[in-house]
Amino acid sequence: MSCQTNNATAPSPAVAPGRERIDPRRVVEWLVNRHGPVATDPRLAQVAPGFDAPFFQAGLAGYSDAAMRIVARRHGCPFCVTEALLDRTLLAGGRGFTKADLGELHDNIPGGPEDHPLAGQIMGSHPLEMAAGALKMAEQGIRGDRAYRAIAYDHDPELWADVIESHLRNPGGEQVRVEDDARSGVGRGVDPGDIDGVSSGGGVDGEGSWPGLAAGDGPAAAGAGASFQVIDVNLACPVKKIKNKARGGHWLTDPAGAIRILEAVRDAVPSHIPCSVKLRRAYDDTPEMADHFERIFDAAYRIGYCWATVHARTVEQKYIGPSRWTFLRDLVARHPDRIVFGSGDVWDVNDIFAMIGYTGVQAVSVARGCIGNPWIFRQARDMIAGRPPRPPTMAQQRVALEEHFRLSLAVTRKFKKAEEQSSKMMRKFAIRFAAHHPRSQAVRDRMIAVRNAAEWLGVLDEHYPAEDAASSGR
Ligand SMILES: Cc1cc2nc3c(=O)[nH]c(=O)nc-3n(C[C@H](O)[C@H](O)[C@H](O)COP(=O)(O)O)c2cc1C
Repeated sequence: MSCQTNNATAPSPAVAPGRERIDPRRVVEWLVNRHGPVATDPRLAQVAPGFDAPFFQAGLAGYSDAAMRIVARRHGCPFCVTEALLDRTLLAGGRGFTKADLGELHDNIPGGPEDHPLAGQIMGSHPLEMAAGALKMAEQGIRGDRAYRAIAYDHDPELWADVIESHLRNPGGEQVRVEDDARSGVGRGVDPGDIDGVSSGGGVDGEGSWPGLAAGDGPAAAGAGASFQVIDVNLACPVKKIKNKARGGHWLTDPAGAIRILEAVRDAVPSHIPCSVKLRRAYDDTPEMADHFERIFDAAYRIGYCWATVHARTVEQKYIGPSRWTFLRDLVARHPDRIVFGSGDVWDVNDIFAMIGYTGVQAVSVARGCIGNPWIFRQARDMIAGRPPRPPTMAQQRVALEEHFRLSLAVTRKFKKAEEQSSKMMRKFAIRFAAHHPRSQAVRDRMIAVRNAAEWLGVLDEHYPAEDAASSGR
């Protein structure tokens, strides 16, 4: 069970009558006139320093691990969201959950200083579990696993009050920063060695045999930047209910429950870390569900959430059929002061600026459109700089493919069969990466048969010229 779905779903054009009259280049001009050269609402960087472009990489269960995020960032992506991490997985320290369940811990730990700004996304069924999980995420486990489980399961009102009031505040009422706790040696639940599954950089041990992998090639050192800049609450995932308990998008049927979760998470997360929410436009197309959306959306901002990312499909639609940009347009028009991000049917760089032009959202969530296509971010940066968007050269494709596998090995290196795991991961990207190649079918067939790093490099040697790769630039 996960938010995952078949990423090969045929691209559907969004419901956006009149969109053909929008010239994405004119939208960029308008953004630059309004916000200056970065073309971005300055509030985004106030919330998450470094968020300096009006688009970002979405949470994508099964894909958006630190490796994919870092590749995206190296191509100009200014902000990323982890895949949804189940609160229980987090509180159980990742034990007892199968690979098929939602986001595993190692996929959801920041990949070092390069992997920022980053939103850690959490999803679950109970406000206290969500709150404890979000707190653990925000603090990177400094209290120790037992303390977070006690917050979630002991249901001790005093403990809860203590968390909110005193643990997170100094006697004068000033907020205790996570770093202060860390420095003073408050018990560590997450071993930096775990964080460093993606963070220690360089060494691929065990089976790793990546030729020439040097220190510093992987995601950079743990410690610096090991936390999240934003905690994102997932009220959007269409995965079925578990044991009659709602989670993800199913909360859109229960606004009171959804609002309890939003409150509990906001209360628990230290106030210097902003919270955001991911929503669908409704559970289904009934007026009752439209009303539920409004209640939850309004409550999020009232409680202090910095923004909502709204996927303009219903939960019932899952990922099939068009998203309704008309919904986003009306929502933004009704709430011009709120920061709203849009999601759904963003397949290429023109869609990014068309969505902004059509709906008025402050940033666009790029999801299936960036699987095997990190160049969408570079192309968006090109457009902001007034250049035509550049397709990737063969040499640039080779650099990205090599880099992605190398980073994936840094993510999986703690596991017994690291190369096999990374190979499986890369196979999922293959169809989309291969689409950029003139002999895409042949390349794809070779990529999906890869079992280790040497074979991956073999495919690259066979199909992607190495010359100029080092100086290919981005
Ligand atoms: C394979 C897959 C996994 C996803 N996992 C997540 C997730 O973990 N968290 C999340 O907020 N959204 C997740 N989504 C939803 C996307 O972020 C996005 O909202 C959705 O795909 C609509 O955008 P698109 O039509 O441009 O792909 C996932 C989507 C797909 C296809």
